Amino acid sequence: MSKSKTIYFCQNCGNQSPKWVGKCPVCNEWNTYVEEVVDKQEEKIKEKRGYALKKHEEAKPIPILEIHELETKRIDTLDTELNRVLGGGIVLGSLVLIGGEPGIGKSTLMLQLALQLKGVKVLYVTGEESDRQIKLRAERVGIKNEQCYLLTETNTQQIFKQAEALAPDIIVIDSIQTLHTVYVESPPGSVSQVRECTAELQRFAKESSIPIFLIGHITKDGMIAGPKVLEHIVDTVLQFEGDRNYTYRILRTAKNRFGSTSEIGIYEMVGEGLRPVLNPSEILLTQRENDLSGIAIAAMMEGMRPFLIETQALVTPAFYGTPQRSSTGFDGRRMNMLLAVLEKRASFRFGTKDVFLNIAGGLRVDDPAIDLAVIAALTSSYNDIPVSSKIAFSAEVGLSGEVRSVSRIDQRISEADKLGFDKIFISKFNQKIDLKKYNLEIVSISRVQQLMEQLYG
Ligand code: TYD
Ligand code: MG
Repeated sequence: MSKSKTIYFCQNCGNQSPKWVGKCPVCNEWNTYVEEVVDKQEEKIKEKRGYALKKHEEAKPIPILEIHELETKRIDTLDTELNRVLGGGIVLGSLVLIGGEPGIGKSTLMLQLALQLKGVKVLYVTGEESDRQIKLRAERVGIKNEQCYLLTETNTQQIFKQAEALAPDIIVIDSIQTLHTVYVESPPGSVSQVRECTAELQRFAKESSIPIFLIGHITKDGMIAGPKVLEHIVDTVLQFEGDRNYTYRILRTAKNRFGSTSEIGIYEMVGEGLRPVLNPSEILLTQRENDLSGIAIAAMMEGMRPFLIETQALVTPAFYGTPQRSSTGFDGRRMNMLLAVLEKRASFRFGTKDVFLNIAGGLRVDDPAIDLAVIAALTSSYNDIPVSSKIAFSAEVGLSGEVRSVSRIDQRISEADKLGFDKIFISKFNQKIDLKKYNLEIVSISRVQQLMEQLYG
């Protein structure tokens, strides 16, 4: 009798099915099922093993007051950006997934962390590169921590054995896709391997209280390969993103059991690794001598941080058939919506124009407060009249052309004020603002037409 059978797994959500299906009934994604060989005995092994590394002691209910706050103990990473996205440092016993496309800088970020934490014992486990390759990279980044250990290993049980012997303070695993456990037959990178290895790591982290960073590659369509499967197992998911052609990188919290998920960290990839960017506004505003048309500056928020960012638009006559619409860093559908608002409420004619929109620095912005700046950039390019580089914008625009209020307007205004802007356009519907607090002029408007009058007379 054969001992193995095949099961189909959804690579997006990890659902299993005995047959191949085109559309996953659970997550509704198409073409995500892959075949994997599963050993029938595997289940029995898991049963025998108690599905745990160590034998579980019988759990008993404990009064909540008697539970000690181990969780709040955090290790300072000495990296302001990483600390911020983790919610204030590394929580003991946590499992943190760092996802990102290949080449974005995940290994660099983690190696840098390992090398700068002076006096903290870090075990860097790699199945991706040889130790010599890592050494070369380490020399680029600079070795401050002599307590950084390298291990080239992909077998989870071996990793745990070495980790127990070394007793590090932090473990980094590069990457989940190279790991394999003896308890699962399918090859490394497959859904069942990835899932089982992550579960083992989670157990190890909890039992040993050693925090583990887990690097995971994201496939082209933006999922961590074998991916959503992991998100619910790990404690924290950090996404490392950015345009590879630009040097800026954003570290975003997608899930965090120990902090807020709205935080971001900004880095710049330089010759010596990743440099934390402390004042994002300065880099996101391009230096220019004269005011050019099609540029407007938005005062936006990412997490708790306000910064100013440039939106650039180009509106040109469309000579070839259907006009083009293209936007980078801003939702294309939202841009089409704003164009429609301008057509209907401010009599612009974009129907025969190509429209391009770009957010500076290769950033992707979801904050609706950028709407007003997008409108200003689009109309400025349309009219070929520059908007002064001393003016900032911060408001959402609704379907009827109304200018809507946004959250934390005070922080946005003071950031623009601090950077020496002369004027900021905001919504009239914001809560009361103490005008005397700021040096810059605050213009409150309620409709898009008012902005047009103010900017172009
Ligand atoms: P890497 O960390 O290997 O990416 P990942 O692990 O996410 O696949 O980063 C690779 C890129 O970073 C590579 O294209 C070179 C660049 N880089 C620098 O620009 N400066 C540096 O100091 C280092 C170490 C890498
Ligand atoms: Mg790597």
